[in-house]
Amino acid sequence: MTEDVLIVHGGTPLQGQIRVRGAKNLVSKAMVAALLGESPSRLYDVPRIRDVEVVRGLLGLHGVKVSDGAEDGELVMDPTNVESASTDEINVHAGSSRIPILLCGPLLHRLGHAFIPDLGGCHIGPRPIDFHMKALREFGAVVDKTPEGMHLSAPNGLHGAKLELPYPSVGATEQVLLTAVRAEGVTELRNAAIEPEIIDLICVLQKMGAIITVHTDRVIEIQGVPKLYGYEHKPIPDRIEAASWAAAALATRGEIEVLGARQTDMMTFLNVYRNIGGELKITDDRVARDGVTGAEGGIKFWHPGTELKAVALETDVHPGFMTDWQQPLVVALTQARGISIMHETVYEQRLGYTEALNSMGATIQVYRDCLGGTPCRFGRRNFMHSAVIAGPSKLHAADLVIPDLRAGFAHLIAALAAEGTSRVYGVNLIKRGYEDFEQKLAALGAHVERP
Ligand code: EPZ
Repeated sequence: MTEDVLIVHGGTPLQGQIRVRGAKNLVSKAMVAALLGESPSRLYDVPRIRDVEVVRGLLGLHGVKVSDGAEDGELVMDPTNVESASTDEINVHAGSSRIPILLCGPLLHRLGHAFIPDLGGCHIGPRPIDFHMKALREFGAVVDKTPEGMHLSAPNGLHGAKLELPYPSVGATEQVLLTAVRAEGVTELRNAAIEPEIIDLICVLQKMGAIITVHTDRVIEIQGVPKLYGYEHKPIPDRIEAASWAAAALATRGEIEVLGARQTDMMTFLNVYRNIGGELKITDDRVARDGVTGAEGGIKFWHPGTELKAVALETDVHPGFMTDWQQPLVVALTQARGISIMHETVYEQRLGYTEALNSMGATIQVYRDCLGGTPCRFGRRNFMHSAVIAGPSKLHAADLVIPDLRAGFAHLIAALAAEGTSRVYGVNLIKRGYEDFEQKLAALGAHVERP
């Protein structure tokens, strides 16, 4: 535990430039998609984060040769000799990520069977996989649950199906895409998730030879094809990381330019940022304007120098306000004048981290009711899923233990905004999704150190 602590001397505005690379929540899925190809795939701008290492390990176990390409951040995946891995080997990855569940379809296509260990990921609610299992069964998969995990087979092959998700789940939509592309016949998916990362995955699959149509009203149609090939792809930038740094700029009264961030994927966030009083400038046209080689644009975010304003918000599926933007932004909202409301409608238990903020001087109360928006799935089910944030509050230093990835980054921002020296335990969890965050903090002038 002693190595896994960061000492944060807070109270200094973060100032400078950092860069985001490919989105974690696309890169990991694009890596899984490589399994479906008959030839090598090449993914660029891959961040050095733990989730990428987990998928790299899983692919390796299944005979996919994964190597670094010539360019920094380039990954080459050769699936020519896909093979079965032993359950013991796969179980080493149990509990470390949610990604293994997405290997079901590709492994069934390539090997005729799959083994999926117990899943991990952030502890932000029960995170069931019922939508995934129901869809796989409708494609023709047979699922055998055992104490160590799930064994899947497809004795009669996988066939296209008419499916409708009870909720537009990101993972279940990806599951359907990764399975339907090589299933026999046509698949129609209703109530699909349409997050930018999903659209980018569809781009990857189309590059591989898939035929996928995105209709209006969350309907996706996939025409199965017998073979897919390798792809070359530069992923969309990480809009969750970009928003996290934007929130850090507000909370610490600083100014951060996030190179690589892209306006189109973040429009909802940018509107909210402005409503709070945050300032921003899109700098991605700089290259075209200046014509300077090597000049890269992004989005610059800064504190206005005047008081921030309270807002009422609710998280939602795309194009709504992302659940992963919620925690870092709440830290900034502790500095806004008035009463802010955050209604979390995607995960039922994603507000636990507010206790730590209260221990630092914030005034946040959580409620079971659906506050500030439309009633959601959690309103009548006894989940503390709405937060009322009264501000501005002067934050003071504290000892904090990081509970999950996004809440962890929120803890870090709070410690950076607070006066005094905080100890943040469990910071290595942040490496799951934030590349080089300590180097980035140093570049932004933060006073942090390892003991
Ligand atoms: C993805 O998780 C992301 N993870 C999450 O980011 C993100 O918060 C989430 O999508 C929503 O945008 C990855 O991409 C690896 P869901 P996923 O299926 O796919 C319920 C981060 O920090 N549900 O869209 O697991 C579920 O319980 C992570 O980067 C079922 O009920 O999310 C939740 O309430 C955290 N049954 C809702 O749907 C199912 O079978 C949305 O979950 C599947 C989901």
